[in-house]
Amino acid sequence: MSDQVSVLFVCLGNICRSPTAEGVFRALVAAEGLEQLVRIDSCGTGDWHLGKVPDPRAQAAARERGIDISQLRARQLDPRDLDTFDYVLVMDRQNLADVKDVWRQHGGTEPELFLGYGRSGTPEVPDPYYGGDDGFELVLDLIQDAGKGLIADIRGRLA
Ligand code: 4NP
Repeated sequence: MSDQVSVLFVCLGNICRSPTAEGVFRALVAAEGLEQLVRIDSCGTGDWHLGKVPDPRAQAAARERGIDISQLRARQLDPRDLDTFDYVLVMDRQNLADVKDVWRQHGGTEPELFLGYGRSGTPEVPDPYYGGDDGFELVLDLIQDAGKGLIADIRGRLA
């Protein structure tokens, strides 16, 4: 039982998958009327895109589904994030290995694969950066599905 729950989405660059997850999950949380109770952020394990807006392809794909992620800016994971977020949700196994290295050193919240909350049976959100536009559609489909499962899990914590 807790008053507020915090969720951090993590990918490699924080310009494609994790900002998409942040935007989609914000919309899901708002639709459930939980926005006062759930804090949401995203970051990357890498530092190439710090301060950048999400990839234009990610912005366009999200906008098609009514979600505006244009105001988000990339930042890098800070080890202290593992102290301040209740859920640290990574997109693929490489992210998991990278964040687990930080977690073993630092402690805090153990990272887990975001799609563990989904029903698609797919374990990873594939990196769409070097692929075509359909990669961004798949990212959205997988994230929307896992986001619903995450809402259910959070409701359990808030109960
Ligand atoms: P993301 O995608 O991890 O979903 O933000 C990527 C963005 C940039 C790069 C790789 C993946 N990059 O190599 O610059």
